[in-house]
Amino acid sequence: MNLNKQPFGETADAKPVELYTLTNTGGMQVKITTYGATVTSLMVPDRDGNPGDVVLGYDSLEAYSTRKEYFGCIAGRYANRIAGGKFSLHGTEYQLAANDGDNHLHGGIRGFDKVVWQAQGVEDDRGIGIKLDYLSPDGEEGYPGNLSISVLYTLTENNELRIDYFATTDKSTIVNLTHHSYFNLAGAGTGDILSHDLMINADRFTPVDKSLIPTGELRKVAGTPFDFTKPTAIGDRIDQDDEQLQIGGGYDHNFVLNKDAEGPCLAARAFEKKSGRTMEVYTTQPGVQFYSGNFMENNIAAKAGLLYHHRGGFCLETQHFPDSPNRPDFPSTVLEPESEYRHTTIYKFRN
Ligand code: BGC
Repeated sequence: MNLNKQPFGETADAKPVELYTLTNTGGMQVKITTYGATVTSLMVPDRDGNPGDVVLGYDSLEAYSTRKEYFGCIAGRYANRIAGGKFSLHGTEYQLAANDGDNHLHGGIRGFDKVVWQAQGVEDDRGIGIKLDYLSPDGEEGYPGNLSISVLYTLTENNELRIDYFATTDKSTIVNLTHHSYFNLAGAGTGDILSHDLMINADRFTPVDKSLIPTGELRKVAGTPFDFTKPTAIGDRIDQDDEQLQIGGGYDHNFVLNKDAEGPCLAARAFEKKSGRTMEVYTTQPGVQFYSGNFMENNIAAKAGLLYHHRGGFCLETQHFPDSPNRPDFPSTVLEPESEYRHTTIYKFRN
């Protein structure tokens, strides 16, 4: 196990940004920058033991600060969408920044993906990690309350990238944090992800309106192209004549996870035949957004001098359901000053 720190560059406001490299003895290595608490690279061995980078990333800090794909970041204060950027809490209405048409997406104009976090190395029984802290001030992007957030990334000796999230506030607020890596288990930049087999442990999903806001219905996946209860290639049904797929330009939907325990439960499993890599996702969260990279345009300048194309990666964003602050029947995303926000998501790799 090993941890190494290097400069990654400077932000526009002259804040120095660092890049941490964590290595385990199972052949995995992860690089995480303090800009956006972002995973920039994740090396995982293939079936022959050859390492390959399975997450998408840009070629410069400048691209991380200007582009809209949110490669590898921690998204928040509220990951995913809030309708009209509006919500009410204890009788007060709040207006958040609108950065996706009229809607609020991934924390607004300058979300947690575009701030510099404070980092420190951590080593425990599980493996080697870094803890990233950020204090989001009262009123930032329109949110109430000073929110103190810690994200602990651990690279375990069992070839897991484990993410523990903690947050506390001094005023009632809403929180929904997620990790936004785009995966390609064949290797970032090798093509699209349509031939990956995917299983999602969900009997229901949340259909959306034209601006990708849930309608409120929890619809059964059975008999629809959203049924991933058995492993199915992502591309098998993605272009079917289905209203929900047309709205998203493919999959861009929250799945309601089947839960059988309190702790992290299996949410999804992806398998890629050529490399032999499998990724399992475990989480304490009630939902996962499966996004098949539909808004990715062609020729995105990426790390290693590569270009990424449409559907060159997929996200499995563990989270609460989109627009929960306006949906009292969805699990609550309210955080009160006397309680603590705590969630865990684990991306586990096999080869
Ligand atoms: C959303 C997409 C969005 C993408 C990048 C995903 O989490 O579901 O709709 O385009 O992030 O912004």
